[in-house]
Amino acid sequence: MGFYGDRIFPLVMNALMDNKEARRIRAEVCAPLLGDVLEIGFGTGHNLPFLPVTVRSLKAVDPILKGRELAAARLAASTVAVEFVGLDGQRLALDDQSVDAALSTWTLCSIPDPAAAVREIARVLRPGGKLHFVEHGRARDPKVERWQRRLNGVQQRMACGCSLTYDMAAVVGDGGMDIEQLDTFYAKGEPKSHGWTYQGVATPSPR
Ligand SMILES: C[S@@+](CC[C@H](N)C(=O)[O-])C[C@H]1O[C@@H](n2cnc3c(N)ncnc32)[C@H](O)[C@@H]1O
Repeated sequence: MGFYGDRIFPLVMNALMDNKEARRIRAEVCAPLLGDVLEIGFGTGHNLPFLPVTVRSLKAVDPILKGRELAAARLAASTVAVEFVGLDGQRLALDDQSVDAALSTWTLCSIPDPAAAVREIARVLRPGGKLHFVEHGRARDPKVERWQRRLNGVQQRMACGCSLTYDMAAVVGDGGMDIEQLDTFYAKGEPKSHGWTYQGVATPSPR
């Protein structure tokens, strides 16, 4: 990834991903998790303090190794057993039907083929398992969407591939999952281009 991606970006991400609105949303998204949970895009472990006692283990996936270092204090404070199981959500080294729930917070935006990651999540979820997600993405307002397209090149360079333009509801559907609950809103404190939020729960589509 290079010096910026490996050393600088993780520090920026660690700081930016910890704010009042993000913490409010993390608390809501993590609350229903239970059992063995897969997290794609572990980042710097900002979800760890929000995992409820019903979570037995966390299988974490992320390509940025420095994130684990920056998560050290949160890992030490967590009562959940965390295992790092890979670097790429698009190809999970996990057996079919091996986790009870999956978690993705502001991660699908950074994955080149996000529908492939959703397909992998659907594959590894046990029957009844759900994906709990919050993502930013393409806004409904055409004016905001135009700005998202204009800013996307700079955004992708500065934020290691993060796209502003994915329609996250479509991504989840293309990945073979059905959305059973979805809230869309502008996150407080973010510019509209970066703050249009999809927060929801999805289950694998029946085959
Ligand atoms: C904006 S950060 C969010 C981090 C964390 N989920 C949070 O809520 O603070 C996006 C994360 O996606 C990770 N990521 C990028 N490509 C990925 C991939 N192919 N598979 C899994 N995670 C990936 C990045 O390394 C980064 O940690």
